[in-house]
Amino acid sequence: MTNTTLSPSDALLGPDADWWRQAAVYQIYPRSFADANGDGVGDLRGILSRVDYLKGLGIDAVWMSPFYPSALADGGYDVDDYRDVDPRIGTLAEFDELVAALHARSLKLIVDIVPNHSSDRHVWFQEALAAGPGSPERDRYIFRDGLGENGELPPADWTSTFGGPAWTRVADGQWYFHMFAKEQPDWNWANREIRDDFLKTLAFWADRGVDGFRIDVAHALTKRLPEPLPTAAELADPTLFPVGDHPLSDRDDVQEVYAEWRELFNRYSPPLTAVAEAWVPADRRVRYASRDSLGQAFNFDLLRATWNPEEFRTIIRDNLALAGQSGASSTWVFSNHDVVRHASRYGLPSGGEGREWLLSGGTSEVEDRDLGVARARAVSLLAFALPGSAYLYQGEELGLPEVVDIPESERQDPAFFRNRGVEIGRDGCRVPLPWTTEGSSFGFGSGDSHLPQPVWWGDYSVETEEADDSSTLHFYRRALALRHELQTAEELSWIDAPESVVAFRRPGGWVSVTNFGVESVELPAGRVVIASGALDGDRLPADTTAWIVVDAD
Ligand code: NOJ
Repeated sequence: MTNTTLSPSDALLGPDADWWRQAAVYQIYPRSFADANGDGVGDLRGILSRVDYLKGLGIDAVWMSPFYPSALADGGYDVDDYRDVDPRIGTLAEFDELVAALHARSLKLIVDIVPNHSSDRHVWFQEALAAGPGSPERDRYIFRDGLGENGELPPADWTSTFGGPAWTRVADGQWYFHMFAKEQPDWNWANREIRDDFLKTLAFWADRGVDGFRIDVAHALTKRLPEPLPTAAELADPTLFPVGDHPLSDRDDVQEVYAEWRELFNRYSPPLTAVAEAWVPADRRVRYASRDSLGQAFNFDLLRATWNPEEFRTIIRDNLALAGQSGASSTWVFSNHDVVRHASRYGLPSGGEGREWLLSGGTSEVEDRDLGVARARAVSLLAFALPGSAYLYQGEELGLPEVVDIPESERQDPAFFRNRGVEIGRDGCRVPLPWTTEGSSFGFGSGDSHLPQPVWWGDYSVETEEADDSSTLHFYRRALALRHELQTAEELSWIDAPESVVAFRRPGGWVSVTNFGVESVELPAGRVVIASGALDGDRLPADTTAWIVVDAD
């Protein structure tokens, strides 16, 4: 299925142009979703076999993390070829089938674009290595001579995001820059060829029918490296570089790239959407989320929010205000493939991001699974009531916990290998989904799974939860269906409530109330249409959210 190309003047007229504004978007991490061919790695056929499950959840769109050919040095965020499917995952024909199957069910598809870096197996990186210093091939990446008498020292003392040096030396003695793993060389976005090639990639997927893009590391594409290169300490000194002119990050000129992308997006009907993964201060996020740019940007504030009503109120207030400034809708996200699953985070007494807990192999504190799931359900229901898009991560609809005790020998994440003792990595939220209560890899596939699943995984399986009307799966389905029914204008008004309660009203007399306290509280008058846990008569217990509809007389 392909999109229609229209002239720019027609572009804004698409009937469905605002579909993303209050969409529920479900993130699939393809290698861990469903494995149809039994090789231990999830694949497109696996996803195809579950499209009715996806539709039944009540989502509006699927976001697929990278499925491109890759050596998996960083779980697929090291792309060998931007315009193909990893043969272990499927084929382009299967991709087309998936687009058609989703569209037939009125589900949109967003794919991940990784424009900051390629993999070191990308044909252009291989050409850059072969062509040598000073060549046009090398100019597609960021190469520099080293320091020291024989260039034996890196050009600068910078550290990569995953730990270890950010410069790696090649056979002829030059060094290349990689913000992430050494297998992920950064592109040189000052080179017109790179810009043109990404426009080609975006059009390639758009012409195959995708509806939008999630842009990886959106803040870091353009760079300006002064000579001599600043030190790591200088890079981190905010007084040395004005906002918008940092050598590596969040440069004003990255918007020139997105202006070109927007022009391409608007040639389709409805215009393609894009959401930026931009790790920038909140006020700078507005630039990426604006209509002339990508159109939406993730706010990761809820990924870090502790169980604290004031924190939630502030995050909601601030992000709705920012959305007002950019004209985009806000994004709400508790879990993704990079963080500890929120059902576990909220079960930790420390209430933090869970990094120390991961590092200790789950021994530094005791996870309370029941509490974690109860709170995760409560905050998810709260977020589903907010104006804006809700981004869900595969498995959260099952209340899946993090897997904290993956043996070192089975770990895959470069963050673990490059930063031993400091980071345990993100494998624990990427363990393949349990579809059945028992059986090989709990229904993920007919063989083993590429990351080991714990023995208790089946307790959280789709099959187990289907059979239990009070399960998180049934709860998510009811919540997402109701959200569709109740959601109207993107407005929210706060309701007077005790300090420990977060309560707000949406247009149409729909109220969401969350009790962050320890005592139950009285529910507002009206009809409770859903609650994240059992109610206590007409009172809302601790760790619970309820939606109330105030029927007009
Ligand atoms: C952000 C992605 O979400 C993460 O998984 C990846 O490791 C980095 N970007 C580098 O591409």
